[in-house]
Amino acid sequence: MTDLQEALRRLNSGDHVGIPTETVYGLAARIDRPEGLKKIFATKARPFFDPLIVHVASVDQAKPLVTTWPLVADLLVQKFWPGPLTLVLPKSAVISDLITSGLESVALRSPNHPLALKLIQSSGPLAAPSANRFGRTSPTTASHVRQEFADQVFVIDGGPCDVGIESTVLALRGLKLNELSILRSGAITETMISRLLKDHRFDFEFQVPTDKRLAPGQMKHHYMPDIPLIVGPQGLSLESITEQANLRLQQLPDQVEGVTLRKPSGVLTRPLELRLNDDPALAARDLYAELRRLSATSADHLVFIQKDFHQGEAWNGLLDRLTKAASIILAK
Ligand code: TXA
Ligand code: MG
Repeated sequence: MTDLQEALRRLNSGDHVGIPTETVYGLAARIDRPEGLKKIFATKARPFFDPLIVHVASVDQAKPLVTTWPLVADLLVQKFWPGPLTLVLPKSAVISDLITSGLESVALRSPNHPLALKLIQSSGPLAAPSANRFGRTSPTTASHVRQEFADQVFVIDGGPCDVGIESTVLALRGLKLNELSILRSGAITETMISRLLKDHRFDFEFQVPTDKRLAPGQMKHHYMPDIPLIVGPQGLSLESITEQANLRLQQLPDQVEGVTLRKPSGVLTRPLELRLNDDPALAARDLYAELRRLSATSADHLVFIQKDFHQGEAWNGLLDRLTKAASIILAK
């Protein structure tokens, strides 16, 4: 039996499986198998208030999942699917509350990975969050997934992820579904979306999401590595960052919004710098694998030095993940 056949067999019997995508690995179950969906939450220790993204292989698979498929969705998916753009649209009755955490909308995306697309063509739409324990670093290889769940999850190995951080989540709201909000930044930026819609003379407006209930999963902390990550400003030495972090660490709470913070028992003494590529796409590709690799060394904390050039839209996705993964952010 091939890995794809084995994954399909497991999905059809109400199990979950690890799947490769171009962003990060997902932990997937069929949308019509509540036992598989519940297993996702149990395996990840994920709270039920955080809704899941439904992955489709085509627009034809997406349409029955929503009450309406507006022109703007067509424009966006013609350009960006399969790819790292998730659309939040009004859900149809096919989608259960377990997937949407009781919201009236559903998040949809088509992953740009040949094995994922082949699997979903056969299985039908799959709900899949990133395949990591809640609040922890997302996996970008099959072995990350196996390590994360102590070999308890069957994973299709599709190689390392190209994009490396999760998809951009874009909500489409309003009567004409032309009020757009980016709920999570990613490789597809507001400028890329705006340019496309302007080229098609589509009338739209970007809004900053204000209603927290409509943008769940926006926890302050997330993606945390196994040892504390400190983000410090350019111009300070590693030693002084460690010193300042030690002063702050003992005042940190144990948990923020249900996510356990990384806190050492004693004083931090062994920093290791997290160095990423100067190109934002390559930095994003390597981020999670580097957090995992460096956490498994003899260092007792990681330091990322935020440089002046880490600025502008192209860095948004990466800085969002780093900021949430950090136990402490030191100001200039
Ligand atoms: O790249 C990705 O999007 C990866 C791969 C596996 O596809 N998936 C992923 O899933 O990052 P997850 O569960 O880690 O993050 C999904 C986030 C939720 O935390 C929530 O913020 C948002 O998507 N979301 C899902 N459904 C939503 C809805 N109906 N309304 C608003 N936000 C929603
Ligand atoms: Mg996640």
